[in-house]
Amino acid sequence: MLGMAVLGCGRIGRIHAGNLAGHARARLRCVYDVSADAARQTASELGTQRAASLEEIWADREIAAVLIATPTDTHVPLITAAVRAGKAVFCEKPIDVDLERARSCWRDIAAHRPRLMMGFNRRYDPSFRAMRERLQRGDIGRLELLIITSRDPAPPPPAYIRSSGGLLRDMTIHDFDMARYLAGDITQVQAFGANLVDPRIAKLGDIDTCTVSLRSKSGALLQINNSRRCAYGYDQRIEAFGATGMLQAGNQHATSVEHWDGERTAARDPVLNFFLERYAAAYRAELDAFIDSVEEGRPLKPDFADGLEALRLAVAAEDSLRTHQVVDLS
Ligand SMILES: NC(=O)c1ccc[n+]([C@@H]2O[C@H](COP(=O)([O-])OP(=O)(O)OC[C@H]3O[C@@H](n4cnc5c(N)ncnc54)[C@H](O)[C@@H]3O)[C@@H](O)[C@H]2O)c1
Repeated sequence: MLGMAVLGCGRIGRIHAGNLAGHARARLRCVYDVSADAARQTASELGTQRAASLEEIWADREIAAVLIATPTDTHVPLITAAVRAGKAVFCEKPIDVDLERARSCWRDIAAHRPRLMMGFNRRYDPSFRAMRERLQRGDIGRLELLIITSRDPAPPPPAYIRSSGGLLRDMTIHDFDMARYLAGDITQVQAFGANLVDPRIAKLGDIDTCTVSLRSKSGALLQINNSRRCAYGYDQRIEAFGATGMLQAGNQHATSVEHWDGERTAARDPVLNFFLERYAAAYRAELDAFIDSVEEGRPLKPDFADGLEALRLAVAAEDSLRTHQVVDLS
C-alpha cells in the first residue's frame, strides 16, 4: 500500500483525494490545504486526517508520495520540497507558468533522481489512449493531419485567468501535451488569438479563442482550436487523418439514447458538462498508473520533461501571437 498525502483540497484536489480514499493499492494518509477549513471538510468527508503543516507530511515516513493539486504558482516550491523530502510526486499541470522557473526547478531536483508524474490526465482517457494505440499499430497508415478541438462550457472567473497563466499556458497546455502524445515531437508553431467571448478576459490581457497550427518532426500537420465558451457544453474531440483512413474520438453523453421526431433527428443528451465528469475515468486511470509505477519502480509518464515540453510549446505559441511569425523549435 502506497502511503499518500494530497496537497490542495480545491476542485481537482478533492477529485484525486476521493479516488485515493479507499483505493485498493494506496492509503490516503492525510490531506493538507492552507485553508484549514477546506482540509478539515475534505478529511471528514473521506475519513482521513488533516495535516496541520507541510513539515508534518515531509517528516512522515509512512507517506511515500504526495499529490500536488494547489494553484499553479505553488507547484515549483512544493515539488522541490517534496522531492528533497524523498517523496514521489504527482503534480497537476502545468509545472509553472514561467518556463525558466520550471527549468530551474529541474536543475534543483535532478540530483535526487525524482520520481515525478505530471497530471496530463487526457493521456489516460480511454478513447484518446486507444487512438494512440491504433495510430502506433498503423491502422490509418502514416499520420498526416491531426485536429484537436477543446472548448470549455464557460469562462473561468477573472481571478483564475489572472493566476493560472491564461489560455495558452493553462488550457491549451493539455492540447500541446496531447499533440506530442499522438504525433511526437513538434518542430514549428503558429498561433492566432482573438477575444470573441468575454471582454473581461481582454482587459486582463488574455485571449479567449485561439487556433494553433503545428508541424511534427514526423511531417504531420496539426491544428488545435480552443474557446473559453461553448453553448452545448464541454467539447472534446480529436480527429486523426492518415494515408489509409481516419480515427475520430467524439464527445461523450450521459446516455446513448437518441431522440427522433418531426423537429429533430438523432438528438442526444447534452455532452458531459465539464472536465470533472468528462475525464472522471482518466483521473482514476492516471492515479492507478502512478501508484503502480511507484510501487513497481517503473518509469512515470508523463514526466517532468513532458511538462517542460508542453510549456515550451505554450511559450512558442505566445511568441507567435506577439510576432505574427511561425516559431521554429528544431
Ligand atoms: N488536470 C486537470 O484536468 C485539472 C483541472 C483543474 C485544475 N487543474 C490544475 O490543478 C491545480 C489546482 O486547480 P484547482 O482548480 O483545483 O484550484 P482551486 O483553487 O479550486 O484549489 C486550490 C486549493 O489549493 C489551496 N492552496 C493554495 N495554496 C496552497 C498551498 N501553498 N498549500 C496547500 N494548499 C494550497 C487552496 O486553498 C485551494 O483549496 C492548478 O494547477 C490547475 O491548473 C488541473
